[in-house]
Amino acid sequence: MKTTIAAVRGRQVWDSRGRPTVEAEVALEGGAIGRAIAPAGASRGAHEAIDLRDGGARFGGMGVDRATAAVNGEIARLLVGRDVRDQAGLDQAMTDADGSANLARLGGNATVAVSLAALNAAAAAEGVPLWAYLAQGRKVRIPLPEIQIFGGGAHAGRRTDVQDFMVMCPRASTIREAFEITADVFRAGGRLMEETGRLAGAADEGGWWPMFDSNEDALAALLKSIEMSGHRPGEDVFISLDVAANELDSGDGRYRMGLDRAEYGSEAMVERVADWVRRYPILSIEDPVSQDDLAGFAAATRQYGDKVQLIGDDILVTNAERVRAAAAASAGNAVLVKVNQAGTVSRAKAALDASKALGWAAIVSARSGETEDVSIAHLATGWDAGQIKVGSFSRSERMAKWNELLRIEEAMGADAVFAGASAFAASVAAGLR
Ligand code: PGA
Ligand code: ZN
Repeated sequence: MKTTIAAVRGRQVWDSRGRPTVEAEVALEGGAIGRAIAPAGASRGAHEAIDLRDGGARFGGMGVDRATAAVNGEIARLLVGRDVRDQAGLDQAMTDADGSANLARLGGNATVAVSLAALNAAAAAEGVPLWAYLAQGRKVRIPLPEIQIFGGGAHAGRRTDVQDFMVMCPRASTIREAFEITADVFRAGGRLMEETGRLAGAADEGGWWPMFDSNEDALAALLKSIEMSGHRPGEDVFISLDVAANELDSGDGRYRMGLDRAEYGSEAMVERVADWVRRYPILSIEDPVSQDDLAGFAAATRQYGDKVQLIGDDILVTNAERVRAAAAASAGNAVLVKVNQAGTVSRAKAALDASKALGWAAIVSARSGETEDVSIAHLATGWDAGQIKVGSFSRSERMAKWNELLRIEEAMGADAVFAGASAFAASVAAGLR
């Protein structure tokens, strides 16, 4: 049959940090080929699928020989002869064969590359773009992007404690317009850094390297950049922060903000961020507390979750059960969906479906280590996630995704609908009207 898997190949390629990563290729008997590359995180949650690395001296231990060998050996033997359209079956076969809960044996980097490659091959066999293959004729929205202006945390030598200082333009009428506004803010941010003698290059996801004296200083600079761009903060442009608080907690439940020379317990940490929410036009907060601090996440949700999007990344790790458990504890109102955190397309989709069933928002996300692979632009659109996070507005591994979204918008033609404010959970969306 045309959609029968004829071959699965794995190879080592390189990511945006110059580290090895896994590329997988799935070839079908009908001649169609699908390809995908595993991304890699730097601020990773303990509950994520395992990114299998070789260890040892070579490439600083980051080699992926074992993961590529798993693709070419065990995984290929498992999948050849199967129908590529049975994504759930392919993913289940890999997770069953792995035998661990976190894909530690075959490697989440091996399984995610193959899983996405198979999905791309299935779309290629049908001769349609991936977003359309996933949409299956349903009406889907072009996602609302959140885009980084300053990059800190684990992506910038911990120069700031807060990891991502981003903007969102939910009132733009198209993604094209959202990009144009963001480009203005990004340029203004660079000019501000230059004028204040702080221009020091780019962080891992392409944002300006954050030469600030405090975390609040960075927030103030972001607000100033929006003003300098000529767009209106809190009207056209809102602030979104990824605190990535997991990186601030060394496991003892205390949060250390090195730049501010401050240390907080969970309650004080929640209040630290709540204070920023009161004083800045902040529309979205990710990981204000660490991966096991569900009580802190619930406290943040009680304080400002009716007006502000509260995204779980390291705390939810693209896991449907963790999403449902958080919702049961009234913690959070949005999930970050990183396919490689889950390890397979099916598991990631299950987390997204769980969040939608709860009335939550969903943000399909890249990692800090990325490549030219643009699959996530298609997932965010075809799954009708509503939002997408890719990093900043520079560096081609980021721009490739933004540019792909422009192509998708064009291909949809008159049917293209920008998610805008509809991308948020109901109470947050209501505040924007
Ligand atoms: P990571 O960070 O890809 O380095 O884990 C991205 C994020 O925290 O959202
Ligand atoms: Zn995050």
